Amino acid sequence: MTLIVREPAGFRRACDDARAKGQRVGLVPTMGALHAGHLSLVDEAQRRADFVALTLFVNPLQFAEGEDLGRYPRTFERDLEECRARNVDLVFSPEPASMYPPAFQTTVVVGEVTQPLEGKFRPTHFDGVTTVVTKLFNLTGPSVALFGRKDYQQWKTLARLARDLDMPVEVVGCPIVREEDGLALSSRNRYLSAAERERALAIVAGLRAAHDVWTNGERDPEALRLLAEEPVRSRFDRVDYVAAVDPETLGPPEAGPSRLLIAAAAHLGNTRLIDNVVLGEDRRP
Ligand code: PAJ
Repeated sequence: MTLIVREPAGFRRACDDARAKGQRVGLVPTMGALHAGHLSLVDEAQRRADFVALTLFVNPLQFAEGEDLGRYPRTFERDLEECRARNVDLVFSPEPASMYPPAFQTTVVVGEVTQPLEGKFRPTHFDGVTTVVTKLFNLTGPSVALFGRKDYQQWKTLARLARDLDMPVEVVGCPIVREEDGLALSSRNRYLSAAERERALAIVAGLRAAHDVWTNGERDPEALRLLAEEPVRSRFDRVDYVAAVDPETLGPPEAGPSRLLIAAAAHLGNTRLIDNVVLGEDRRP
């Protein structure tokens, strides 16, 4: 049975009840428009916890002026069906006004790890993410929370948040789920026209090129970055970044690294896509 709750107080009560019964609570935060990437987090939550709570909330705080808050896909009924089909125990789908009442005035800010990559192009984004996830952690009291490595910097930021503020939750990063042809699943893929969908494959083509030469022994970060960048530059309308950074600090990589994060963000028309691979760790994307 899937219980659906709209109010923070009711959500907290349902999570309290589960913990009172001795259940380990697992939390899967999402903005809805669920796809197989989200559902892989549910599967992992069910392996690691006794009681799984999924949140559906398009968090206005993490969208800047001019971003896609207004048109972000909302597929509530279908999302609920997916949750019921997977035996999610609890779904929390609040209205913005109940998460952010008029007197709301607190922001949770994580430092350095939020500054490069996404932080350069979406300077207020991570403050919105860390603030809402702090609220969700406080309402839920989860033992474990599941995030996707698709949003690699988000995962690292939230792991840092939990460590720095002694939040008693294990922050787990799950592998990227891709379409058959390699495109990383994203709620935003539905914005793409058929022609854009085809061009979108340039990101994964770049990541594969880097992965292939890494496998053949190349360890020069800039050489790997340039290889990943080339197809994105030629096929996308605008490139925010294709970066080669240290997978832990997200800062400059060491020379001859044992692992290297290649992360990309680029635009096709009005759609912004991100993807990444950790060379030395991930399978070929
Ligand atoms: P959303 O974009 O809905 O993503 C919810 C979770 O699903 C995130 O942890 C994201 O990394 C993961 N995810 C998305 N696509 C994935 C894929 N192809 N493979 C694996 N995991 C994938 O990220 C957010 O929402 C929000 O920022 C949130 C954390 C809910 C805070 O509002």
